Amino acid sequence: MRGWMGKLRAFFIFSALTLLLTGCGVDNLSALKPKGYGSDLLFDLMMISIAIMLFVFIIVMAIYTFVLIRYRQRKGQEDFIPKQTEGNKALEVIWTVIPIILLLVLAVPTVQATFDLADESTKGDEGVTTIEVTGNQYWWHFGYPDDEISTSQDLYIPTGERVYLDMKSSDVIHSFWVPSIAGKMDTNPGDNDNTMYLEAYEEGVYWGHCAELCGPSHSLMDFRVIAVSPEEYDQWKEDMQNVDPEATAEAQEGQDLYENNCMGCHAIGDGAAGQGPNMTNFANRTKIAGVIEPSKENLVDWIVNPEQFKPGNQMPANLVSEDEASQIADYLMELDHSDVGASASEAEVEEE
Ligand code: CUA
Repeated sequence: MRGWMGKLRAFFIFSALTLLLTGCGVDNLSALKPKGYGSDLLFDLMMISIAIMLFVFIIVMAIYTFVLIRYRQRKGQEDFIPKQTEGNKALEVIWTVIPIILLLVLAVPTVQATFDLADESTKGDEGVTTIEVTGNQYWWHFGYPDDEISTSQDLYIPTGERVYLDMKSSDVIHSFWVPSIAGKMDTNPGDNDNTMYLEAYEEGVYWGHCAELCGPSHSLMDFRVIAVSPEEYDQWKEDMQNVDPEATAEAQEGQDLYENNCMGCHAIGDGAAGQGPNMTNFANRTKIAGVIEPSKENLVDWIVNPEQFKPGNQMPANLVSEDEASQIADYLMELDHSDVGASASEAEVEEE
């Protein structure tokens, strides 16, 4: 009786969890709602696989049920042995040919999509953007070499066109994944660069995750892809090429502190990539370090002791006092270099 109750209870807990978990997931973080070319291809492949699985499942279950009912042991037949059959050419041909056909139905579009996703025929053409993506423990660097722009955490792309990515890692293997507009691709250390492309159909903010276990803060290695219209994208590039790092009078002290303590790793503008994330346009990010709610208090806590938020990250703790961190935070929150994408960002934050 007890075991039976336990099983029943487990069944209800699992059912409740299933219901609960199906509600999980932000809109623009789902491979099931494709909003870009790559994710569209992958979604179609998933649908074909599921259709084939369902087809096989239904046929097998139908035969199983039929046999179970039709050939079950009946009362008074306990010793009855039915006629034994061995070898049936027709049957064997059928159950060999059908799986071959099913595999072909699955294989042809899969191979097609694989080549399609690797297509780089327009790469390097006039007006086609190629962005350098570098995975780091635990943040992302994005470089636009043609436009001399460096940024981190927020990847800006124009909608409706193919944007190529050249991808590497500065330390261990990471994986760049933006499920709602593309598939995923590893970033490798050394010279083993990978490439892929992004193509977003509509404007929006698409969340990305690192999809390769890369250390204690792997699950906190989030980033965003912000897709804006081509006109806005040009505006963004112009804004980013004319960054004014000068602070207002109130944050002057913060800027001095920043330059003395932080600048070695955290460039502003197109400075060297640096060991840490580029801080250009920091004020327009909707998360600190990709995962923390943006408030001055959180920013000060992060500057003083980043380890408590992202274990194993490379930023040293207690480099500055809390007062100094507060002044640096004032300065950072002034780094508002481009409004492009800001409304989309805000809309997305409100939705959460
Ligand atoms: Cu980087 Cu996981």
